[in-house]
Amino acid sequence: MTTKELDDRRKQRRRIRTVGYLGVIAAWAFSVGMGVLLEPPEWVRIPALFVHLMSLVVGLGAVVMVEWHGLLWATGWSTVREVVQADKTLILPIWAGLAGLLASGALLEPSLESPLTVIKLGCVLVLSLNGVALTRWTWELGRLPAKASFHSLPFRLRAWFIGSGIASQLAWWTAVFIGMWNSTA
Ligand code: HEM
Repeated sequence: MTTKELDDRRKQRRRIRTVGYLGVIAAWAFSVGMGVLLEPPEWVRIPALFVHLMSLVVGLGAVVMVEWHGLLWATGWSTVREVVQADKTLILPIWAGLAGLLASGALLEPSLESPLTVIKLGCVLVLSLNGVALTRWTWELGRLPAKASFHSLPFRLRAWFIGSGIASQLAWWTAVFIGMWNSTA
């Protein structure tokens, strides 16, 4: 690929990411807005909770697997090719899980008067935006030689990956703990 073609691909990917950011913000705002407005009948609660938990298993399970592959690569136990493959294979369950959480959450009547729920919804937005931002680097990783080591990456990029992985895990698990806390409190 020539430098110009590479530049064009990067610009195209940037445009796709911008659409991704806007899409994620719109979906989040729609879910929260519907959650506040809707008053579903009582019988909806159990099926909605079931979909919520099922989506959580699928979405967070896939996120943990991709980040686990990233950790194995960072510690020299696997190759960048395996991280890229894991990302390609699991990207669909990640976004499908998140979509399921947003859709079912809207039917569970979140209370924005609870500060914990507001923090939880903030975490959902952060982890979604972080997921879009990561697509920039997973694409760049796909262009590295199959056996490139994590330590051969520039320091800034390594710091970005580690920071983004930690932010993702913190946001997901905070949302899980607050969800569980709210349903048992
Ligand atoms: C990453 C995204 C999310 C995660 C990890 C998550 C996690 C959870 C968990 C673990 C529960 C407890 C379920 C139970 O055992 O009863 C829960 C409940 C709940 N979630 Fe989520 N959730 C997410 C997104 C959302 C969104 C976007 C909304 C609203 C728009 C939402 C609204 C609720 C509500 C209202 C409950 C029920 C709490 C109660 O019983 O009062 N969640 N969530």
